[in-house]
Amino acid sequence: MLGILSFWNNMFHTLDGGPPAPDAPDAPGTPGGSRTGPGQDTDMTTGTTGTATPDLTLMHAAHEAFRRDAERLRRAAGSGRGTISLEGWQVFRRFLDIHHRFEDEYLWPPLRPLVRDLPGAALMLDAMEEEHQRLNPVLDAIEARLYGHLADTGELPGLFDELATVLGGHLEHEEREALPLVEQRLPLADWKAFSDAQRKAMGLSGAAEFFPWLVDARPQPAARAIRGMLPPPVRAICRLVWEPRYARRTTRRPVGA
Ligand SMILES: [Fe+2]
Ligand SMILES: [Fe+2]
Repeated sequence: MLGILSFWNNMFHTLDGGPPAPDAPDAPGTPGGSRTGPGQDTDMTTGTTGTATPDLTLMHAAHEAFRRDAERLRRAAGSGRGTISLEGWQVFRRFLDIHHRFEDEYLWPPLRPLVRDLPGAALMLDAMEEEHQRLNPVLDAIEARLYGHLADTGELPGLFDELATVLGGHLEHEEREALPLVEQRLPLADWKAFSDAQRKAMGLSGAAEFFPWLVDARPQPAARAIRGMLPPPVRAICRLVWEPRYARRTTRRPVGA
């Protein structure tokens, strides 16, 4: 347990562009690894160099997981046959809320003054926050029906359709315009603050859910790369304990069944 706590408390080393776990052969060269060049000074407290850039591996992995879940929900509601459970919905909603809240509080604010020289960048960051807000009524309308607070479940297919479309549009916009600026301009200290805040909000129990959620249905190379960001003992726990438990939870009580 102490090893897992230590890993989680030091997770920013792998989240921020620091070195991957030493025996993680499947970890990709840039995602999860240090983006540094020769002759750069190493910061001995973080294992990174002054010119290392934020590593967006887990950001992109989370986006893929959001797309996967939104598409599953859309299919489940459209066909009337469930492929995701209420627990699966709760996992999706929880990670989406955390993701958007911390982008709005810890990512866009420090980036904003650093891109003042770029035409349209301020409006683009405004749009990031507005697109997050635009999702909330759709999410709440779905939830009200899933929990039985509203009876008109006939609207669920249209709502899941809207969710997948609006969320997909936002993720694509963020990847095309905002994330390149994060990589190019955001100091590692700000990226660490963003990563640390999410880690603290999730807690250790969140890690036990977050990594299985990230690798769910991903092709093997991508899943191995994500698991490769964990130290070997935790990687084994993830495969043997966390992932089966997540699979059991998220296949119970399917939506639409
Ligand atoms: Fe994002
Ligand atoms: Fe976002």
